[in-house]
Amino acid sequence: MATAALEEPALSPEMALQVIDPAAYAEWDGLLDTFDWLREHMPVGRVDAPDGEFDSFWLVTRFEDVMRISKDNATFLNNPRPVVLNSRAGIEFAREATGSDMLVDSLVTFDAPIHPKYRKLTQSWFMPKNLKRMESEIRAIARRTVDRLVEAGGETDFVPTVSAPYPLHVVMRILGVPEQDEQRMLFLTQQMFGGQDADLSGSGVAEMTAEQIIQLVAGAVKDFEGYFTKLAEEKRAHPTDDVASVIANATVDGAPLPDRDMAGYYIILAAAGHDTTSASTAGAMMALAQDPQQYARLRADRDLLPGIVEEAIRWTTPVQHFMRTAAEDTEVGGQAIAKGDWLMINYVAANHDPAQFDNPRKFDATRSPNRHLAFGAGAHQCLGLHLARLEMRILFNELLDRIETIELAGEPRRSHSTFVGGLKTLPVRYRMA
Ligand code: HEM
Repeated sequence: MATAALEEPALSPEMALQVIDPAAYAEWDGLLDTFDWLREHMPVGRVDAPDGEFDSFWLVTRFEDVMRISKDNATFLNNPRPVVLNSRAGIEFAREATGSDMLVDSLVTFDAPIHPKYRKLTQSWFMPKNLKRMESEIRAIARRTVDRLVEAGGETDFVPTVSAPYPLHVVMRILGVPEQDEQRMLFLTQQMFGGQDADLSGSGVAEMTAEQIIQLVAGAVKDFEGYFTKLAEEKRAHPTDDVASVIANATVDGAPLPDRDMAGYYIILAAAGHDTTSASTAGAMMALAQDPQQYARLRADRDLLPGIVEEAIRWTTPVQHFMRTAAEDTEVGGQAIAKGDWLMINYVAANHDPAQFDNPRKFDATRSPNRHLAFGAGAHQCLGLHLARLEMRILFNELLDRIETIELAGEPRRSHSTFVGGLKTLPVRYRMA
């Protein structure tokens, strides 16, 4: 896009910074204000990073445009350019380290004809019918997690106590990772996905350079790969009914998965499966803690729970964007897009589009229909969406059974991240039933 014509709609440098700066995602209302303006005045706008740190890309903010791009997997590819916003330095580093623009190749970085073959391997494992087998195990994890609230004695930070560890335990169970390795996996995942946030990355460095962040993420990826390569050997020798065994013993076109692809499969499940659900769980709790009447109503009528879970997923939109690359010259929302252009489909903006949702900033537990884009759409639509909903329903049923009242005990704070984001702190005060 270096030769873009001058009359093309482009974001002001201030707005462009807001879109690419991880810290801007912690200032939620300001970010939503910007998306409101863009949707109305520049629904497909070019983002030129003021310091040239990123390649230019098109930011797409309207629900219907994000939906169309998501569903047209032939025109809008997940490969060859990165599927998540990544700096030029980051892409260069990945290329040197792996020969590919992404540090990890996985379902989200494949297109047809490879993508459907890989997706098919685990698709039925993640369907509600199969997940039913997991319910009692997930309930036991939920119970143990809520025990931690009892131990905390009436006041705690909900994120480290409940919403971060719970989905991690669940995803580690489905991957067959032994409990003693879970803390290590949590730390590594936070380094990969929380890499932009000094608190979450565990680096202890308040301001990291782009190179330092990239090194941190690359180190986490390497550790992950080493760990899961060993796990696959074990699952080949002793297969069980977990999803790790399915992947370890799978074949595509008559051959077992190459080591890098197998590790990529585990990594996408381990990583995509918990920070996301943690963010929607914490967001749901925040909405309920801010509205005691709603909490009481929900305690009395559990039929309201599925609606609350769905609205929490829309309202929080934990996966904030993905990127696509145009396979050919095309247009989006009337804007010409050239072959090879990079596009950001912004789920936060799409899920706050007033053309699709009345009063989109309101947490409305009775919202119906609630056809949101938090799980994406099309060929790459979230593989774990049934699991995410199930996990949240089971946890909230357990919380509602055992906690009579809950309120905020301090200021919630959001993580600094352009990709997967949400609350990193949610101080709550509560009374057990
Ligand atoms: C509230 C929780 C979650 C949210 C908001 C979420 C969101 C997303 C989004 C937006 C995508 C990309 C969709 C697209 O490109 O159209 C995605 C893909 C994916 N998600 Fe989730 N996710 C969640 C939970 C999970 C869980 C629990 C798992 C599994 C353990 C999971 C596994 C995956 C995988 C494997 C993909 C890649 C699918 C593909 O490319 O074919 N996700 N998710």
